[in-house]
Amino acid sequence: MVEPGGSGQDCRRERISRFPKTSFSLGNETLRVPMALFALNRQRLCEKLRKNAAVPKKSVVVLQGGDQVQRYCTDTDIVFRQESYFHWTFGVTEPDCYGAVNVATGKSLLFVPKLPESYAVWMGIIHSRDHFKTKYAVDEVHFTSNMAEVLKSLNPDVLLTLRGLNTDSGHTTREASFDGISQFNVNNTLLHPEIAECRVLKTDMELELLRYTNRISSEAHKEVMKAVRVEMKEYELESLFQHYCYTRGGMRHTSYTCICGSGTNSSVLHYGHAGAPNDKTIKNGDMCLFDMGGEYYCYGSDITCSFPANGRFTLDQRNIYQAVLKASRAVMSAIRPGVSWPDMHRLAERVQLEELVRIGILQGQVDEMMKVFLGAVFMPHGLGHLLGCDVHDVGGYPEGVERIDEPGLRSLRTARNLLAGMVLTIEPGIYFIDHVLDQALADPAQACFINAEVLARFRRFGGVRIEDNVVVTPTGMELLTCVPRTVEEIEALMAEGSGSTKQFGQQPSQTA
Ligand code: GLY
Ligand code: MN
Ligand code: MN
Repeated sequence: MVEPGGSGQDCRRERISRFPKTSFSLGNETLRVPMALFALNRQRLCEKLRKNAAVPKKSVVVLQGGDQVQRYCTDTDIVFRQESYFHWTFGVTEPDCYGAVNVATGKSLLFVPKLPESYAVWMGIIHSRDHFKTKYAVDEVHFTSNMAEVLKSLNPDVLLTLRGLNTDSGHTTREASFDGISQFNVNNTLLHPEIAECRVLKTDMELELLRYTNRISSEAHKEVMKAVRVEMKEYELESLFQHYCYTRGGMRHTSYTCICGSGTNSSVLHYGHAGAPNDKTIKNGDMCLFDMGGEYYCYGSDITCSFPANGRFTLDQRNIYQAVLKASRAVMSAIRPGVSWPDMHRLAERVQLEELVRIGILQGQVDEMMKVFLGAVFMPHGLGHLLGCDVHDVGGYPEGVERIDEPGLRSLRTARNLLAGMVLTIEPGIYFIDHVLDQALADPAQACFINAEVLARFRRFGGVRIEDNVVVTPTGMELLTCVPRTVEEIEALMAEGSGSTKQFGQQPSQTA
């Protein structure tokens, strides 16, 4: 458990260290993940579907995995990353597969493409069906070309396919489709809410995986903080983070595009995109906000560290940073099953507003400020979100949970009450965004609380976000992220880094 106000800087080692017969690992020190993780996911899904009276007894779940795609019209492959529902169910790393699960018996079937002979020349060994049966510990493996025939032999009343809305992106899942599907009775509505709900509650094996992604990503953040120097480009640190995660953690992917904002860029919530590709030169006096998370075997992490580029907080930087830290730790102290996430968001806003009064940027009663949504002026995003196979993980708005249409709260990716086993980010922040501040100053209901003269001093400040990943436990929460969090811890780590020119990944000859 985290001490409110403090931080755990060293993650504990994961416990999946036995050598299960069938497992995924990339060798070296990378985590060995048992295929039992996916067998348990399938078992939980079947149990849930069997309890649903609307699901016919002889149902078969059919999922379609991700396709290998190329860059536009070319033959250049884009590095493949499995579709998350398919990964959660089967743990299969190859593209162009399907999977099926017989709900009554729990029997699992994997369908792989029959590869052309040229594959052996250009891509490597064409593996047998037995190879995949052993690799993924499924009951049967068949070719995708035989799907209709194989599924018919199960004599199902209905095939359950996946169609549902992703409430973060607004996109709909791609429903399985294969030659001969028209011969079956298909239901595409029953599966989505049940499988999404299974993904919301993490098993112990999934938690070990998320501890690993957090440990490696936390170590990578620390390497970055030690390596940061004034006059570096932001992307040099993005590159270092990715290098550490891949070299040490086998993480070919990050969970999202790295956000490496310095100076005013640290107030751009999703900086780092193609139009602003982490390409500013870091300047003395800049605040840095680095939001980066490594992904291993399609399980993610989402961590933000904020710190001064030169390793020493100014008084203003310290004050804003500590205000955000106080909000983060207040939320951590309050988290337990049954707590409402919107209430946690309001708690963070309240703490930050109280601190902004103390700093002198705001004046007046915090209760009155809350009534005019002043919290959202400084934190225009939600407090945090579910995390798992997707960085903004599914299940945030199941039927019966409504989005709250108020500034700040409407950006929450879930408005649920917390349950033990949920993994979430806690990511309060204070940002000075000209566009938002100008709107607030033009609105008399909000402007009356703002000391414009003091605020003017913060116009070029940028922002601070502190983002940790936690799992809700029966009595509170466990902190998965392990990076320096107090001002003193950050300054000490950065001072350690500034004493040496050696950086991770450099050969000794380069550092002489
Ligand atoms: N990195 C995206 C987010 O914090 O939600
Ligand atoms: Mn983030
Ligand atoms: Mn996040």
